[in-house]
Amino acid sequence: MVDLKGRDFLTLKDFTSEEIGYLLELAAELKKKKKMGVPVDTLRGKNVALIFEKTSTRTRCSFEIAAHDLGMGTTYLDPKSSQIGKKESIEDTAKVLGSMFEGIEYRGYGQEIVEALAEHAEVPVWNGLTNEYHPTQMLADMLTIQECFGKVKGIKLVYMGDARYNMGNSYMIACAKMGMDFVACAPKKYFPSPELVAECEEYAKLSGATITLTENVMEGTKGADVICTDVWVSMGEPDEVWEERIRELSPYKVTKEVMENGSDDAIFLHCLPAFHDLKTQIGEEMGRRFGLTEMEVTDEVFRSSRSRVFQEAENRMHTIKAVMAATLGA
Ligand code: CP
Ligand code: NVA
Repeated sequence: MVDLKGRDFLTLKDFTSEEIGYLLELAAELKKKKKMGVPVDTLRGKNVALIFEKTSTRTRCSFEIAAHDLGMGTTYLDPKSSQIGKKESIEDTAKVLGSMFEGIEYRGYGQEIVEALAEHAEVPVWNGLTNEYHPTQMLADMLTIQECFGKVKGIKLVYMGDARYNMGNSYMIACAKMGMDFVACAPKKYFPSPELVAECEEYAKLSGATITLTENVMEGTKGADVICTDVWVSMGEPDEVWEERIRELSPYKVTKEVMENGSDDAIFLHCLPAFHDLKTQIGEEMGRRFGLTEMEVTDEVFRSSRSRVFQEAENRMHTIKAVMAATLGA
């Protein structure tokens, strides 16, 4: 019997495959109830703090809607208007917020910040994205894979692009935990760190997962069930790296040819936001400077029937609801 009451949710490293499976089942059940209009407001009277030191659309909305659906109140602390870090330490912030709220979400920079919050707050702390990990995103992706293929175990998932940042790291951990075949397809310098690979190899021994790192796009994506990518420059990185990233990661763009190299029913996932056209400020600027029409994924793939990115985005809310419900003991 899985019991996650009182637990923090900082990285999937801290969870067994059984616990992750439980969160996915709970999310599927909560999704079904939401669609049927069955209320699950069993956390009435509780409140959660949502700290965002980086911007967000999906994660913030998911936490707010999920909390409201569960009957809870929310307080949003934006990147500029709190004392966190500038005038007040993480330790003091954790003690203050922990005394008022039943749970705290944190999105920001180093993983050590969310870990310090968790250490000093006596309530569950949830990681809404750090430079290193994006664990709530992984649950949404796993739920989407489960919905598309009826299983996650044995699925071949290829991550293309910067595989040493939050999304690449998190996919490798999630796949290793859940018995999937993970491939990081990128130039060598963008491979996940050898330390994290070694840790994931240990999880893989337990789950039957495999981990492959390759620079070869056609070998890496051959027969893949899931092909995913992310932006080439993440939040908090300096603008100066765009030129180098575009040069080095362009061969790892997800194109129609890449998707066709996967299995017959291969799907495309992207945590979003995505640069699949020039209809954004940054997309327009990069398009103009470097003569591009898209970056990590072509507009054709993004809009194709293989693309499940909006199902994946919706699943952020259902899976975040499951995390809060499970750790707050709804
Ligand atoms: N995928 C994701 O975390 O989106 P946001 O940055 O909009 O929250
Ligand atoms: N790697 C991206 C993910 C955004 C959801 C970033 O950190 O900006």
